[in-house]
Amino acid sequence: MKTTSLSRREFVMATASGTLASGVAYSTSSSPGVPTPGVSGSISGKPAILGGTPARTEPFPEWPIYKKVDEEMFLDSLREKKWCRLYGTITTGFEKKWAEALGAKHVTGVVNGTNALYAALSALEVGPGDEVIVPPYTFVATVNAVIQQFALPVFVDTDIETQQIDPAKLEGAIGPNTRCILPVHLGGNVANMGEIMKVAGQHSIPVVEDACQAHFAEWNGQKVGAIGDIGCFSFQSSKILPCGEGGAIVTSRDDLYDRIHSFQNNGRDRLTGTREGYQHQGTNLRMTEFQAALLTAQLTRFEEQCIRREQNARLMDSLLKEVSGIEPARMYKSCTRNTYYIYMARYDSHHFAGLTRSGFLRALRREGISCGAGYQPLNKEPFLEKIFNSRPYRRLYSPERMKRYREENVCPATDELSGQGLFFSQRCLLGSEQDVSQIVGAIERIQIHASEIARVT
Ligand SMILES: Cc1ncc(COP(=O)(O)O)c(C=O)c1O
Repeated sequence: MKTTSLSRREFVMATASGTLASGVAYSTSSSPGVPTPGVSGSISGKPAILGGTPARTEPFPEWPIYKKVDEEMFLDSLREKKWCRLYGTITTGFEKKWAEALGAKHVTGVVNGTNALYAALSALEVGPGDEVIVPPYTFVATVNAVIQQFALPVFVDTDIETQQIDPAKLEGAIGPNTRCILPVHLGGNVANMGEIMKVAGQHSIPVVEDACQAHFAEWNGQKVGAIGDIGCFSFQSSKILPCGEGGAIVTSRDDLYDRIHSFQNNGRDRLTGTREGYQHQGTNLRMTEFQAALLTAQLTRFEEQCIRREQNARLMDSLLKEVSGIEPARMYKSCTRNTYYIYMARYDSHHFAGLTRSGFLRALRREGISCGAGYQPLNKEPFLEKIFNSRPYRRLYSPERMKRYREENVCPATDELSGQGLFFSQRCLLGSEQDVSQIVGAIERIQIHASEIARVT
């Protein structure tokens, strides 16, 4: 393949206008700073919100995707008429594949990621009176799983640069009742597992990784979800490995595997079934054979999609280096792979003539680029106070404990981040280099016209 070295400006212009073939190498030459008006010339004219032509008129690649192999595997599972895993073998087959792919000993497929977390905490006997350390900058399911056990979610603030739980604040949150640390690998990026495992080890506290957004992400070459005592995944439709709804629980500890497997199957023993009666408390969280069939098919193209996203994310990083006011989430040095369920960044309105984030997002949407605003601080969610004032919680946690809890429940970095977050969906990275340069070109155009936009939004 012919390799051309282009300046960044040449690259943005060539890709935004579609004249550069995919796969051509690029290099960046200019230094970070205030945008050069010429760069946005790649998408010339006014921003769409001011009456210009949108940067994008085509949608990003659709999601989820199915091909012939998905149809065949799904229909095979239908025709097999063994729709429940108790009668079929597809779920067991997928569990084996997922365990191998992660380098873990055991995987248990379940109905979804929320219930994967529920089963994980149940297996660790997290219960009423216990405390579980969680990040406040995540999807609500992480916290709901803790509440489901009548345990207390103890929030540890966010490292604003990586958007992951702040490892420096972990130790201070541990108390005599801490029963589990539940970090989230947000957006396909990886929480600082080195520090988390160190602190957990020093206090003999188990770690459950919420890897629901981080399939195939790695820490020092090890797949996340297989580092802590238990890892949980979601296969909900938007996820990078989807089957509509689905989840998996990963562990290399035999004792936990037995408990988890039994729990999701109404307390039946994993090996003996009900021959010797029921062995544990349980519920029904069994994955269906349809879910497993789709996942097995989706796996056939999964690695290839991860590589595509990574390449486009690298390009996005490189192009955004020259856009002041958009700060992509940093990765820790030991994060050897980010699989970009979300391309996360922070928006600084000072570099956009005071244009608010919502104004910026509106302008971006008009360019044909949808981008989310990130999460709101879960530690401030009003529903939590309702729960803490409920009868069971009042019985379990003394007024003194809750007074201290409320005093300590402050996460200033998360407050700041929640006003700045930008979440680009993985679909933005699944297409061509041109898609990425159009995103950055549109951002630059908005930046140049930011004061005008601020007046109309
Ligand atoms: C961080 C995190 N945890 C847990 C879940 C719950 O997964 P599910 O939607 O499959 O129940 C999600 C899903 O979005 C998530 O993003």
